[in-house]
Amino acid sequence: MALTEELLLERIRSGKLIEGPEYATERYIEGLKRTLIVSADTELISAPAYFRAAQDAPNINAYISATGIIQDELGHAHIAYRLLRDLGVDTDALVFERDPKDFKHPYAFDVPLESWTELVVANAFYDRAGFVLLGDVYRHTSYAPWKRALVKVDREENFHLRHGERWMEILAQDPDKKRELQRAVDWMFVLTLEWFGLPDHLKRHTEQIAYGLKGKTN
Ligand SMILES: [Fe+2]
Ligand SMILES: [Fe+2]
Repeated sequence: MALTEELLLERIRSGKLIEGPEYATERYIEGLKRTLIVSADTELISAPAYFRAAQDAPNINAYISATGIIQDELGHAHIAYRLLRDLGVDTDALVFERDPKDFKHPYAFDVPLESWTELVVANAFYDRAGFVLLGDVYRHTSYAPWKRALVKVDREENFHLRHGERWMEILAQDPDKKRELQRAVDWMFVLTLEWFGLPDHLKRHTEQIAYGLKGKTN
């Protein structure tokens, strides 16, 4: 049975979840793929960015907690690419053959993180942004397989941002470290804003809200 746009929108408005592509329209699936690619790319690219900064960990325990976060991020990327593969996307081509310029991660990950201080501010700010954005998807998305997959992601992102906030408190107690922390906050806060995207009236694609892929506007 061909599903019309009207029927799909009516189902979504009545709070029904979409269990797979066979219950959606082409346009819904295209919007879903676009949203999933941004999420998958962001998770994947965070791993090398964090790994670089983790080399500056102050001790072995700190290094281990950072590598734990990096492992989580690769798991999150795997979840999103796996959902894309289930939608028929060639994810090997996406990950291994795409031009680096075509990856859809926030600009923040194109600016290298050079120190432990910058890593923990990234946890506090970038993971917080990811937590807000994915937490909205987790609570409001109409796509059931993504909603279920985000139970684990939501919990882990919460751990990442707390790791960042806890370390920011530790660093702020030392006057030298506090100055370094303030320098990181000054440039990284601005880059965090970009994670939330363009104001809604400037967006080119509007299906995220219409289809209930997420709940909150930018
Ligand atoms: Fe993540
Ligand atoms: Fe994270």
